[in-house]
Order: sequence, then structure tokens, then C-alpha cells
Amino acid sequence: VPAESALKDIFAEDFHIGAAVSSNTIKSQESLLTHHFNSITAENEMKFASVHPEEELYTFEEADQIVDFARKHGMAVRGHTLVWHNQTTDWLFRDEQNQLVSKAVLYERIRSHIQTVVGRYKGDIYAWDVVNEVIADDGDQLLRTSSWTEIAGDEFIAKAFEYAHAADPNALLFYNDYNESHPSKRDKIYTLVKSLLDRGVPIHGIGLQAHWNLFNPSLDDIRAAIEKYASLGLQLQLTELDVSVFRFEDKRADLTEPEPGMLEQQAEFYEAVFKLLKEYSDVISAVTFWGAADDHTWLSDFPVRGRKNWPLLFDERHRPKPAYYRLAALANHL
Ligand code: G3I
Repeated sequence: VPAESALKDIFAEDFHIGAAVSSNTIKSQESLLTHHFNSITAENEMKFASVHPEEELYTFEEADQIVDFARKHGMAVRGHTLVWHNQTTDWLFRDEQNQLVSKAVLYERIRSHIQTVVGRYKGDIYAWDVVNEVIADDGDQLLRTSSWTEIAGDEFIAKAFEYAHAADPNALLFYNDYNESHPSKRDKIYTLVKSLLDRGVPIHGIGLQAHWNLFNPSLDDIRAAIEKYASLGLQLQLTELDVSVFRFEDKRADLTEPEPGMLEQQAEFYEAVFKLLKEYSDVISAVTFWGAADDHTWLSDFPVRGRKNWPLLFDERHRPKPAYYRLAALANHL
């Protein structure tokens, strides 16, 4: 067991500290996960295509392993995710002639999916990302065009929350998105969630994915997003935090180790972010990293395939990085 102070203790008075896991990393990162984190999210294993590849076939083995791991170690579980345009098998949207199904058929299929998945983990999963990334990144359009909108306009969003609430009335239901601190997208997310609340849709929180990098977003934009979302009276969670060492436009593929200064700059950014988050610990209930250590991060494959990245608090060998030490120094009660 690592000797350093546990993140979950450092922030015990502020929020849960989570990590995304896979059915592999609950083994390869077991001691790191159980020492530092008190919440986990399945990185892929609960997504539609993972658990429901065919209409008559549910495959819960890997998702179950993750929930069992959390139960064994007394960790909270966030559920990710029920309605998304990615990692959703096409059968959901199509009939036997490969034509898009009617609204009524889509609603019945997604109702049944949500009932089965949320119902299975009732009591184990305390919060669900019910709807993920439906807002359009650019332009004036509110929603991203997808099979969901083609079939069902915008009403599928409210339906998904209603079905999830029926399946587990105690679960906290979240709308989750990225670029959440960008001013124009922030305003669109606010508009969507406000319209759901105005219609009495059961929604309890907004997930800020927080896929950030050393240069973006600014602390002012993060603060503005938190304030705006919190003004809706909902709880907030950072659901997928990581800090890439590259600007998004930087497509270099030749770096095999961080450049001098990168990890120090990352440590400064993480420290500033957590100081800010602590100011809002009455509205922020959890901060989940999208991975536990740099040996397993989606950013080592995106946006440049196979390019290494070092976005998390622990290195490839699970040793604390400069950013970890900055956060440990924020502990005021240990
Ligand atoms: O499982 C297959 C494997 O069988 C196959 O050999 C291999 C070849 O590419 O692919 C494997 O699937 C990959 C899967 O991750 C599991 O590792 C997919 O290609 C890959 O696209 C997929 O990426 C995931 C991505 O979502 C898909 O959109 C990332 O792991 C996951 O971190 C990422 O997570 C998303 C959140 O759900 C939503 N917010 C953004 C975040 C980052 O993109």
C-alpha cells in the first residue's frame, strides 16, 4: 500500500474523489484505487454497446465485476451512461429493413434498457449520467444532430430522465457534457437543463466532464461555469477530470516523455483548480478523474493515435507526480 496521504482523506470535507476504471484496471491499479479513491465510474463497461449489444442480449459481466469491486471496498459508484450518440449499437435505432424506427418504438426500447440497467444496480449506483453530450459544440443549434434527434426531436431527453427516475427513485440523475466551461456551450447546457427543470423533469445534477489541458480553460471560465450551473439549484460533479499536457491543436506524435516544465505547469494548474473547487464544495459533491494513473488514459490514444500523454496525478508506475503533492498540500485538517 502506498504511504502517501489518501486523496479521499485530503478532500474528505469537500467532495468524493473518484476515478474511471475498467475491468482490467480494477486489477492492475487495485492498491492505488483503494488507497486514494472513494468512488469509481466504469470507463466503458456500462455504456449501451457494452451491456446491450443485441435487442435480446444483455452482457453485464464486466459491469458486474466493477460494481462488486466497489462493494468489496466500500466505494461509491457513478453510472455512465444511458443515452449517448457514441458506443450505442445501431439496432436501437433501426427496424428489420434497416429503416429508422418510430418515436414510439425508440421510447419503448430505451425505457426497457434503462429499466433493466438502472434496475439491476439499484442501491449500488447512487448517481447516473442519464444523458451524455447532446449539446452541439458550435453554432446556434442547441442539440447535436444524431439518430436520437432524427427520430425523436428533443423529447427523448426528458423521457430518459423520467425512465431512470422510475427505475430507481433514489438515484441522483445527471446531465453530463464536455467543453462545459466554454462560454457559448456553457450557456447552451444551462438553457437545456433549465428547460428540463421548468418542465418538472427529474434531474438532480450537472456533470462537468472537465477534459482540460495546460492552457484551457481559464480559471475564470471554470468559475463562471460553476456559478451559472449552480444558480439552477442543482448539485455539480466533475465527472471526467484530466489535464492533457498538449493543446488540443498540438498533434505532435514524437514525445516519449514529458518536456521539462510540463509536469510542474500541470501541478500548478491542478492546484489552482482544486483551490477553486474547494470554494464551491457546498455545491460540488464529487470530483472524478478519468483514470487513476498515466499507465491507462484515453488521452494516450486521442487525438493522436498511440501518442503518450500524462494527464493524471500518478505516473505509469503509480508514483505520485508533482500535481499530487500540490493537492496533498491543500489538506488543512490532516
Ligand atoms: O474493446 C475494443 C477492443 O476489442 C478493440 O480491439 C479495440 C481496437 O481499437 O478497441 C476497443 O474498444 C475501445 C474502447 O475504448 C475500449 O478500450 C474503442 O476503440 C475506443 O474508441 C474506446 O474509447 C473510449 C471512448 O470513450 C469512446 O468514445 C475511451 O476508452 C473512453 O475513455 C471514452 O470516454 C469518454 C466518455 O465516455 C464520455 N466523455 C468523453 C470521454 C473521452 O472520450
